[in-house]
Amino acid sequence: MKQIELTPRLRTVADLVPQGARLADVGTDHAYLPAWLLQHDRIGCAIATDLRSGPLDRARETASACGLEGRMEFRLCDGLKGIAPEEVDTITIAGMGGETIAAILEGAPWTRTGQRTLLLQPMSTQRELRQWLQENGYQISQELLACEGEVFYNILEVVPGQMPPLTRAELWAGKQNLNDRLRGAYLSHELKRIDRIAAGLKCSQTRVSRERLERLELLRGELLEMKKEWERQWQQ
Ligand SMILES: C[S@@+](CC[C@H](N)C(=O)[O-])C[C@H]1O[C@@H](n2cnc3c(N)ncnc32)[C@H](O)[C@@H]1O
Repeated sequence: MKQIELTPRLRTVADLVPQGARLADVGTDHAYLPAWLLQHDRIGCAIATDLRSGPLDRARETASACGLEGRMEFRLCDGLKGIAPEEVDTITIAGMGGETIAAILEGAPWTRTGQRTLLLQPMSTQRELRQWLQENGYQISQELLACEGEVFYNILEVVPGQMPPLTRAELWAGKQNLNDRLRGAYLSHELKRIDRIAAGLKCSQTRVSRERLERLELLRGELLEMKKEWERQWQQ
């Protein structure tokens, strides 16, 4: 039987799945995440969904290679449209853009009610996703980082409810625990990214660029403060 190995990105998502969860993995592609969770007896069964039939066929192949037929259900659907609220208490949506993730949740307002855990791993537009979550009845209960080579990934644990408004820097970089050992390197990485954007804006003389530059400088200052706070924690 094939044994699934997860990369740090998906392993970090997997570690947040509650024991015994009734899980839907949206945009499952190869279904590595539900297959790993089933092989490690973390969950009893799973629903794997995808928008396209090719990825869903790959998911079926994984289930068959791992001897997990009968424990995984496959649904061809857009986001959560093929899932009834009472079927699941935990939803994973990984490896998609933040705006796609927000659109999937917007199409399933029941995800902001009841006892649910959403584990979201956006590949882009993280700031827009955090903003959308805070304006639409979700709270980010925890944020983790994963690192593969030079690339950092944000993993958001989200539950229904309200959260205090995130600051400019928290919207950009998230609010990981100060104990997160990756946070310092991640904040340095984001500061360099901001410097590159600022260098581009400095070449332009338009009013819009100047205003954007001013906002970026404020953001840079807040991120620097965050990094210092993290460093103080690690120096203790
Ligand atoms: C890059 S793969 C990510 C696979 C896996 N979740 C992971 O993180 O490794 C993205 C998958 O999401 C699927 N997808 C994109 N938009 C979707 C939507 N609205 N609903 C369901 N699946 C979607 C794509 O077909 C693709 O298989």
